[in-house]
Amino acid sequence: MWPWKRKPKEIDASDLDLARLPRHIAIIMDGNGRWARKRGLPRTMGHRAGVEALRAIVKECSRLGIEVLTVYAFSTENWRRPKEEVGVLMSLLTEYLRRELDELHANQVVVRSLGGLSELPLEAQIELKKALERTRKNNGLILNLALNYGGRAEIVEAVQKIGTLVRQGKLKPEEIDSETFAAHLATAGLPDPDLLIRTSGEMRLSNFLLWQLAYSEIVVVPELWPDFNEHCLNEAIKAYQKRDRRFGGLSGS
Ligand code: FPP
Repeated sequence: MWPWKRKPKEIDASDLDLARLPRHIAIIMDGNGRWARKRGLPRTMGHRAGVEALRAIVKECSRLGIEVLTVYAFSTENWRRPKEEVGVLMSLLTEYLRRELDELHANQVVVRSLGGLSELPLEAQIELKKALERTRKNNGLILNLALNYGGRAEIVEAVQKIGTLVRQGKLKPEEIDSETFAAHLATAGLPDPDLLIRTSGEMRLSNFLLWQLAYSEIVVVPELWPDFNEHCLNEAIKAYQKRDRRFGGLSGS
């Protein structure tokens, strides 16, 4: 079992301000394919290495006491990839959950998901449901897996739910505000991400958490996802801690 719980002084992040950590970190895990290509390996090996990076980052976020970690594991657009690659990604998800669940649970991690789960292969759905159910009452890091997820689809779904309430006379159009809207998204009840990290140098949101990222600080790092480790995470948090978050207001307001 990993020694997940370290005392703050033991964390190898001495120049991190532990009192000002982001509550919610979102990550676009990009660059698995390029990582593999650089090594003359099939793309799927890059995804396999990506799972190892994910394990390490989950562990580190848990140790640091981050409240929520949302990772973009499979987008609605990823179905367009070759069938074999999609198959491997789905098997990796199933394998990850099977292999990690005991440790995630022992370390109080709450597994959650966002996206259209019913379109995932049955095996993956079964493992995911098991993980959601088993870890539901834990009180540590919330690990939010974005699977078959798309930000626009999530917004459209929220509009449909709200429209239904209006049609049923349970909600008046003028009562719809940001809070009502956010409460109908898949992230209802969670704080918005404070920090978005994207690996591999790409400067795009790629349909990820379009509503929730409105005021997030964005840190793009050059490392390809399989190379992203605890040190890179700490550096990204440090960059975040140097930012002046104004939420549209003035500095210090
Ligand atoms: C982007 O790299 C990564 C993905 C599309 C999938 C992310 C998945 C993992 C990190 C591993 C799977 C983890 C679970 C839990 C399922 P890319 O393939 O777009 O890389 P490229 O831009 O270099 O081609």
